[in-house]
Amino acid sequence: MTRVAVVTGGASGIGAATCLELGRRGHNVAVLDLDGARAQRVAEEVRLLGVQAVAVGVDVTDRPAVEEAFAKTRSELGPVGILVTSAGQVGFDTFTEISWESWQRLIDVNLNGTFHCCQVAIPDMVEAGWGRIVTISSSSAQRGSPRMVHYAAAKGAVITLTKSLAREYATAGITANSIPPSGIETEMQHQSQAEGHLPPNEVMAGSIPLGHLGTPADIAAAAGFLASEQAGFITGQVLGVNGGAVL
Ligand SMILES: NC(=O)c1ccc[n+]([C@@H]2O[C@H](COP(=O)([O-])OP(=O)(O)OC[C@H]3O[C@@H](n4cnc5c(N)ncnc54)[C@H](O)[C@@H]3O)[C@@H](O)[C@H]2O)c1
Repeated sequence: MTRVAVVTGGASGIGAATCLELGRRGHNVAVLDLDGARAQRVAEEVRLLGVQAVAVGVDVTDRPAVEEAFAKTRSELGPVGILVTSAGQVGFDTFTEISWESWQRLIDVNLNGTFHCCQVAIPDMVEAGWGRIVTISSSSAQRGSPRMVHYAAAKGAVITLTKSLAREYATAGITANSIPPSGIETEMQHQSQAEGHLPPNEVMAGSIPLGHLGTPADIAAAAGFLASEQAGFITGQVLGVNGGAVL
């Protein structure tokens, strides 16, 4: 069945691949991102798959803007049935040097942004008696990450938020699951490597049992499945897509 899917962070990396995966699965897609021009280009690619797509430039930390983005999605595509929250930002700081601004920014984008989008999307799902929420968290929340305490704390809270939504909305026909990626080649990872925060690909690959990095499409495939009808008995789960890096 065709649903309306909202993907945050849809202009790049994992979010963009997820927009395309959901489009291939026949869903109409709203591409939400800080970068409205890039979101527009992804929406154009999604339309080539024969489904409808809209792009909205939005900062997920800005509640009124998030409400407007969902209102635009509803008026152009219809009520929201699927939400994938991929908008995120990473940070690297020695713990004692994390500034209050940096702490607040990473909590705001990664956690509060997820909160806003889930809260605005869920009423449509409750009304329909059907919904799929997939949050993109991080393996740093599963195993802890040095110099990423702010990021890992935010992503850990995203996992807990997801599990709690799963329990609260189970009887409403809504599932909520989280995918914590690790070692996925995206702009975020390339920038972290360029700034010297992460080792080069060959070193990273050495710590991954499957011996290579992953692609945005690897995450998108899992997100597409979790958003499908067939995944209806899966909720509150954390599905690592990481080449075996976290077991
Ligand atoms: N790449 C990895 O290996 C990896 C590992 C763990 C977790 N993640 C998570 O996966 C998600 C996607 O990351 P990616 O690797 O595809 O990175 P990416 O940088 O390619 O994509 C992130 C997208 O989020 C958007 N964004 C950032 N802040 C936003 C905001 N406030 N409002 C709206 N959009 C915003 C950016 O514009 C960008 O298009 C992130 O949540 C990230 O933390 C990625």
